Amino acid sequence: MIETKKTDLQAKPTLQNIDSFTHVRGESLFVDDMTMQEGTLHAVVIDASIGHGELKVLDISKALALPGVVQIFTASDVPGENQIGGIIPDEPLFAEKHIHFWGQAVGLILAESEAIAREARSLVKMQIDPLPVVTMASEARAKGSFVSDPRTFELGNVEQAFAGCAHVFEGESFSNGQEHLYLEAQGAYAVPMENGNIKITSSTQGPTAVQRTAAKVLGIPMHKIEVEVIRLGGGFGGKEDQATPWAVMAALACHKLKKPVKLILSRHDDLRMTGKRHPYESIFKIGLDENLKIIAYEAEFMQNAGAAADLSPAIAERTLFHATNSYFVPNVKATVYPCRTNLPPNTAFRGFGGPQGMFVIESAIAQAADKLGIPAHQIQEANLLQEDDVFSYGQIARQVEAGKTWHQAKTAFKLQEQEALVAAFNAANKNKKKGLALMPITFGISFTNTRMNHARALVHIYEDGSVGISTAAVEMGQGVNTKMLQIASEEFGLPAHKVKLEPTNTTRVANTSPSAASATADLNGKALLQACTALKKRLAIVAVEHAGLDKAKVAFVNEQIIVNGEVYKLNWYELVEQALSQRVSLSENSHYATPEIHFDKTKEKGHPFAYHVYGTAVIRVTVDCVRGRYEIDSVQMVHDYGKSMNEGIDLGQVEGGLAQGIGWMTLEEISYAPDGRLLSNALSTYKVPDLFSGPKVIDTIPLDTIGHELAIRKSKAVGEPPLMYGIGVYFALQNAIRAFNPRYVPKFHAPMTPEKVLMSLYESPLVG
Ligand code: MTE
Ligand code: HPA
Ligand code: MOS
Repeated sequence: MIETKKTDLQAKPTLQNIDSFTHVRGESLFVDDMTMQEGTLHAVVIDASIGHGELKVLDISKALALPGVVQIFTASDVPGENQIGGIIPDEPLFAEKHIHFWGQAVGLILAESEAIAREARSLVKMQIDPLPVVTMASEARAKGSFVSDPRTFELGNVEQAFAGCAHVFEGESFSNGQEHLYLEAQGAYAVPMENGNIKITSSTQGPTAVQRTAAKVLGIPMHKIEVEVIRLGGGFGGKEDQATPWAVMAALACHKLKKPVKLILSRHDDLRMTGKRHPYESIFKIGLDENLKIIAYEAEFMQNAGAAADLSPAIAERTLFHATNSYFVPNVKATVYPCRTNLPPNTAFRGFGGPQGMFVIESAIAQAADKLGIPAHQIQEANLLQEDDVFSYGQIARQVEAGKTWHQAKTAFKLQEQEALVAAFNAANKNKKKGLALMPITFGISFTNTRMNHARALVHIYEDGSVGISTAAVEMGQGVNTKMLQIASEEFGLPAHKVKLEPTNTTRVANTSPSAASATADLNGKALLQACTALKKRLAIVAVEHAGLDKAKVAFVNEQIIVNGEVYKLNWYELVEQALSQRVSLSENSHYATPEIHFDKTKEKGHPFAYHVYGTAVIRVTVDCVRGRYEIDSVQMVHDYGKSMNEGIDLGQVEGGLAQGIGWMTLEEISYAPDGRLLSNALSTYKVPDLFSGPKVIDTIPLDTIGHELAIRKSKAVGEPPLMYGIGVYFALQNAIRAFNPRYVPKFHAPMTPEKVLMSLYESPLVG
């Protein structure tokens, strides 16, 4: 059941996702659906079956001799740099002497069909001398093995503050990785153009990253490579950086063989070869005063970065930004260690390190609540962020909605009644117990790397008055194209079918940031709005001159031109024709860069975020205390959409994000063997939420708020924040377990799988 919206933010119904028609009919195009050119070769990646070792022999002779195999490329065939590291150059495209993780690419087979390439792969022989494998971050930390320097955010003085606290509690926590499981696996299609130019169609969130890296690996200028993205069948961060190697491999083979090359990972190859959400091992110390105010908080995060840096340094940073979640803490010391292990390089995943940081402070609060014998929500409520509070990174909290969402959630979802219901239920039932938890969220919007916060839009009004839009935004299911279309159609007063969203393309829109950080609609939408405004200004001048006036107010509504409040005799189409006859340009390219933001890494202080997104969820669960199975009765949220510009799409983001967060916290258990082999390598061993494991009730109430100027149309970013409501499910389950087993000692080790619940229900440590 989904609560009907109460707001009247939008008088008219908003546009339905423009992809829904073709999605439902199976007509939407993905890389694998592209019409292939004659002579297209199929590529399969050769990867190493060892967690760590020295590559002594790579024998491709038998594979190469297989009929239908055209060529095999390895590191020595790379004409430019064999280097794909985005932030730090520490990752080869193809392994050279060393293998650093199970699944690391060693070479690429090109054959007339994928089946032949696959068969050839089974004929490749590798001799690798094994080296010790590290799979845990704490192990790497003990060895001093990091992908980048540890970083610390500090506010106040924790040592002094702890000394004065009435209560101090310490503990540890673990959160596991998470598989992105985009429906569309990684892939690309590279086609040779004239003069050695290459066009790559890639399933990537970062077209420019693909272009930049392909140019580097091939040793040619970026202008020789055009990258196009039609849409993604999901990215979730997994294609921010890690779509690049496959596109570059396809481009390399295309460059060398002058043939079109298609490379699509099979699901098994994708699961094995790509990185996931970072597992974190953390320790915490929390200090409270008599009134439950958190006076001091100290945390150490050991981030399992995997075998190369990838985006880990930036993800580690966001963990620090979100280490105190929705709370004001006057004394904070948070340190993150990006630890180098022998796992595939872990990468961006919805929340980008934020969820991992937030799970730890929620664990600390739960620990304190348990020791003090009070509900955690009393501590949560006593410490909610207020206007003008300072974050550990120096930004002053403005337009804070933490308390408003919290109190509205408590009232609207009748917290007291729910608590009474849970107490009555637990008193009446021996083998079933209910648990309740609240989960506030605060998430910063902007790339934490200030220089990435920019975008451009290119708008053409064609001769017939129809409009084409190009931006840097990549559609990955989040509905950004629909939002872009809404902006142009509203600005020009045109029906949706008169506006077209072009595929994202580096030749039309260059030097793009990836579509990520939930900021895609804000950045690209603002650029688009500027482009539309500029074109409208130009057309308004034409209209005013045509009307023989010096000055007039011109508006664009329903394909009509409104001059000084009256429908003008020229409509949109006639005005476009008039502008063309006067040789007025009907194209505009606009650039937007988020104002106000800055961050000084030498001081770890600044104002990195354009704004924050807030929300509060109330979560109730029922645990079957015989079997350890559980159901989520309800997740009820008051969410800060700002002034949503498309409630259908935004609600989809809230519910989808929530489901993904619940999966991370309760079901999805990534498992590597001690030798670095991925054990959870299929959906039979890796459980994601389905209709049956989802909440029975999801209620989402939009916070009544004015929105933020830096959000597009005051409609706040929505892609990532709702994932973090899922964290509350962990603590609701823990509360239910506690109601059954008073001897259970709370542990903070996610995911809380049914197996773990069962063990906890019957855990009986010898006390005293
Ligand atoms: N929703 C769908 N359907 N598919 C996706 O791949 N990615 C998420 C989120 N929601 C994703 C999604 C992630 S990780 C981010 S950062 C944002 O969407 C990116 O899009 P936005 O910036 O337009 O919100
Ligand atoms: N969020 C998401 N992706 C990113 C970021 C960020 O802050 N920085 C670099 N890539
Ligand atoms: Mo999202 S993790 O910023 O792609």
